[in-house]
Amino acid sequence: MSFGKVIKLSTGQDIPQIGLGTWLSKPQEVEHAVEWAVRAGYRHLDLAMIYENQHEVGAALKKVIPSVCKREDLFMTSKLWNSSHQPQVAEAELDETLKQLGTDYLDLYLVHWPVAFIPGKGLNPINPDNGQKHLDTETSLVDTWKAMIKLKETGKVKAIGVSNFTIDHIKGIIAATGVVPVANQIEAHPLLPQDDLVAFCKEQNIHITAYSPLGNNLLNKPMLTEHASIKEVAAKLDATPAQVLVAWGAYRGYSVIPKSVQHERVISNFKQVELSKEDYEKVSAVGHNNHTRYNTPAGYSPKWDINLFDEPIELSATHKVKVQ
Ligand SMILES: NC(=O)c1ccc[n+]([C@@H]2O[C@H](COP(=O)([O-])OP(=O)(O)OC[C@H]3O[C@@H](n4cnc5c(N)ncnc54)[C@H](OP(=O)(O)O)[C@@H]3O)[C@@H](O)[C@H]2O)c1
Repeated sequence: MSFGKVIKLSTGQDIPQIGLGTWLSKPQEVEHAVEWAVRAGYRHLDLAMIYENQHEVGAALKKVIPSVCKREDLFMTSKLWNSSHQPQVAEAELDETLKQLGTDYLDLYLVHWPVAFIPGKGLNPINPDNGQKHLDTETSLVDTWKAMIKLKETGKVKAIGVSNFTIDHIKGIIAATGVVPVANQIEAHPLLPQDDLVAFCKEQNIHITAYSPLGNNLLNKPMLTEHASIKEVAAKLDATPAQVLVAWGAYRGYSVIPKSVQHERVISNFKQVELSKEDYEKVSAVGHNNHTRYNTPAGYSPKWDINLFDEPIELSATHKVKVQ
């Protein structure tokens, strides 16, 4: 059985290039998806407290460990949610994640967003004054990054990183602590290549994991898998459009974490195909003059009233990220 390619992280750990995404995978669905994935050779799982399905992932893990693989054969990433950014509560959330998954360590733990919510009011606190997500405007990214550094010292996480961080956010936490995140998990697909951020991360030896590689389906826009050029490249390679999109991220050196809860897709998304330079350029061209970021929390309901990326929808937000 093939377990696929791996990429070396700055810690010396190997991260499998293709992982299974689990956001919006419902209970029951996710349990099957994880079991199918591990049986098919996936060794990288992308998880998070906010997906509210880690218990079911844990149930699937019980079915495959140790009969299919050992715990140490799996690379498990999870993420600290916004409502646990405060140093006094971060470890309790990590412990809850470990309990839900039924494991005593994570391979990689990420700060999910550069945004803090107030603690102690659940995962989705609402500000009674405006009905929006209740932001904590005091806790900085540096405060949270220092808490993450302490979590690594406990041995419960083998590596720490960030997600949805911009160049300025990363520069800020490195300047204050000297500790470089091992990875930045970002939205990355041909409509959002993020070349400057990717180049900066490369310089700093920060691994990129690409999320929403298929373009997701959040905006009721056609999926990227439906795009004519991507279908053409797929037909030429006798591959699926999803395989071409995963290959586009792999060409750029990312690990890529497509989500599916459908058996056939879980299996086929894992089959790695290679793009020639010409095919890569044809797929990249889909994004020219077509900048699209699917995941902008200022557009969520209830809204997060904060400007993260300077997208048009964020420019009227009241708050900016508090780096230090
Ligand atoms: N760090 C973050 O803030 C963040 C944000 C978003 C996502 N993520 C992570 O990244 C993972 C992937 O991103 P995503 O879930 O947003 O989007 P995605 O993987 O790009 O797309 C998922 C969608 O594509 C469909 N799909 C899967 N395989 C397909 C195929 N072969 N052909 C056509 N459609 C296919 C899925 O439906 P079916 O399930 O029905 O197949 C689902 O609707 C997430 O699950 C999560 O683990 C992280």
